Amino acid sequence: MADDLMQKIISLCKRRGFVFQSSEIYGGLKSAYDYGPLGVELKRNITNAWWRDMVHSREDVVGLDASIIMHPKVWQASGHLSGFSDPLVDCKVCKERFRADKAPVVEPGADVIIELADKGRAKVALQYIAEQFGVELERSGRQLIGAKAGDRPYVCPNCRSPFMSDERNFNLMFRSFYGPVDPMGALAGAIESGEFDGLKGGELRAKLDGYTKDSTVYLRPETAQAMFVQYSNIQKSMALKVPFGIAQTGKSFRNEITVEHFIFRSCEFEQMEMEFFCEPGTEDEWFEYWKNARMDWWQKFANHPEKFRARPHEQSELAHYAKGCYDVEYEFPWGWDELEGIANRTDYDLKKHMEHSGSKIEYFDPVERKRYTPYVIEPAAGATRGVLTYLCDAYNEEVIETQKGTDTRVVMKFHPQLAPIKVAVLPLVKKLGMPDKAREVVESFMKRGINASFDAQHAIGKRYRRHDEIGTPWCLTIDGQTIEDGTITIRDRDTMEQRRISIEDAVSEIEDLLRTA
Ligand code: GAP
Repeated sequence: MADDLMQKIISLCKRRGFVFQSSEIYGGLKSAYDYGPLGVELKRNITNAWWRDMVHSREDVVGLDASIIMHPKVWQASGHLSGFSDPLVDCKVCKERFRADKAPVVEPGADVIIELADKGRAKVALQYIAEQFGVELERSGRQLIGAKAGDRPYVCPNCRSPFMSDERNFNLMFRSFYGPVDPMGALAGAIESGEFDGLKGGELRAKLDGYTKDSTVYLRPETAQAMFVQYSNIQKSMALKVPFGIAQTGKSFRNEITVEHFIFRSCEFEQMEMEFFCEPGTEDEWFEYWKNARMDWWQKFANHPEKFRARPHEQSELAHYAKGCYDVEYEFPWGWDELEGIANRTDYDLKKHMEHSGSKIEYFDPVERKRYTPYVIEPAAGATRGVLTYLCDAYNEEVIETQKGTDTRVVMKFHPQLAPIKVAVLPLVKKLGMPDKAREVVESFMKRGINASFDAQHAIGKRYRRHDEIGTPWCLTIDGQTIEDGTITIRDRDTMEQRRISIEDAVSEIEDLLRTA
């Protein structure tokens, strides 16, 4: 059922130009996606709404657009170079590679039933487990019975086997080389000249690193660090008083081991993050404030606000520097999953950058005449994950009565402020001056910065359906009466009701509807 819904959404995204697989004509690049004409509008509407509410509607938050490539020392200071890795495990039975921290949890020593894809594979696995691990299991169809969980508190997410490799850590940051000279040239020369002959393991690795380390850079794995690194410049240039925030939206890159659920987890994604700097001692209050503000923000654009929740982290889930964290979770078709993290990061990041850079990163309170390192509350949201959330929230199938009987209408009930196209203008027929009139109306919307679309292809019913499926909130139809009395019909996407309004009022009517939606 959940898979079915995801498949319907993925297929609609492709069919209607929201999201395509990257480089599809070359077989596609795993976990990379392109946002098509409607997807880019939806994504921008989400990030613009975030910017409007987080920056433009407040006096205490300013923006930043930092470079994706930063000084490599940033990642040393932030801990990403040493610690930004996922524990990865290979299942010895079904060969699935998975993240240990995301695998199904079991009690060490508990009974587990291994389940293979078919009987044939179960027979092979039965023999393999007996030979490799000396464990005799019983087979029933495609299931193997009698295994026990090992010391580790998890099993393979694919077949539930407890037979797996050791955990290995993989660096999640994308590495690249800075500068016009490719270090591979020097490296090739060194290999040819025999400089590496006889070297092994750590020694070989260290020698190789020597050739690349000066030009190695990383694509940022989060937008957050630039806000810490530029804290002093921004505070001083804008004469900001604590508490204040720095907000940024933009691309981040992670070599994710498990890429899953369409655009939910991908290697290149977009974030909307804000670092809110406050006086130590006030952080608990701000933490609760931002948790509530962020929950309200996600819910205000949703048809199903009950599908959002703020889940406090267990002590064991907290990052070592965090004093507290809430995950804003959404009930996706596969279950509750993270959309945003709101963390109390204490003064950890500023202090780390102070230590590694040698720069003083503090705040001087001119009224109290005291100096301190601010604490940070960080609401860190996924913009691309937001796109998937609102696609899931909007997707609706309705059985409706038609002249020929019943039919299923697919309608994307996007909040009008997020809808890619706000209004479609449809000439009933391609004659009697109707297309020209429709184009005039479209132009009047464009002049006001409202994304309107002229659509004259196919019968009117089909056009309404097409716009329902892409979530256009209103359709305006130019018909015979328009030419006579200057009125047009306005059709509401959700109720399908139509009423007549004056063509003169069309823009202000839609502006009002958008404002009050
Ligand atoms: N600065 C803190 C930080 O980056 P995070 O929980 O790793 O925290 C914040 O990321 C948000 O970014 C997540 O809640 C999620 O919405 C989004 N995100 C993280 N990794 C992602 C990925 N691989 N694909 C899509 N979105 C991702």
